[in-house]
Amino acid sequence: MSDRVRELLASVELFGEMLDDEIDDLTALAQIKKLGKDTTVFHAGDPADAVFVVASGRIKVVITSTDGKEFILTVLGAGQVFGEMALLESAPRSASVVTLSTVEVLVINRSDFQRLLDSNPRISQRLMAILSRRLRRANAKMESLAYMDVAGRLARYLLDLARDHGQRLGNGWVVVRRPTHSDIAHSIGTSRETVSRLINEFEEGFGLVNKGKFTYIRENLLE
Ligand code: CMP
Repeated sequence: MSDRVRELLASVELFGEMLDDEIDDLTALAQIKKLGKDTTVFHAGDPADAVFVVASGRIKVVITSTDGKEFILTVLGAGQVFGEMALLESAPRSASVVTLSTVEVLVINRSDFQRLLDSNPRISQRLMAILSRRLRRANAKMESLAYMDVAGRLARYLLDLARDHGQRLGNGWVVVRRPTHSDIAHSIGTSRETVSRLINEFEEGFGLVNKGKFTYIRENLLE
């Protein structure tokens, strides 16, 4: 099991430049946990005692309004870190995290993570770069909510999804498995029915086409 944990940690962007013996130390600290689909990892407002890395599967980061409406801030997949904000700020969790599939996570407890940042400035720098990229993404999302119509928001959502999680087919197209229409609706501020209608209106000529649970996008649209 620890060989697997080691291999996973070595492939995580945040720990990319660590030396072999540093990865060994981290391997001893990280625990691997398997979670079923639709499991809540933690709720917004919970106290925080650990940081997580997605080893396999996908999770969603969500906020819920007082009347129970869900808004998905982002979807994260293998190699991505979550749960760092509450630890860095010594604050409660800023959002809830729910699994979208069976998920394996690596768990590093708060004091070990803190020691890791204190002793390894490269990890702190990488973490700042990751946070900065997330802020840039959040700004882009605010921009699309403020200025784009639903079709534009959906197209941008699918492009981001393909960029982050897509697989190149080698024939100029990228394929990506879509979340449910309900999850997409909750990510772009519209209804499930509207997503289902618009999904069928995209055509091959646009360089974006939906077939079954998959979306195909022309590679040149992702540049
Ligand atoms: P934390 O506040 O500990 O718990 C919720 C986590 O969701 C948070 O840390 C981040 O890891 C993640 N998160 C919150 N907001 C965003 C966002 N806008 N983009 C990406 N990840 C986020």
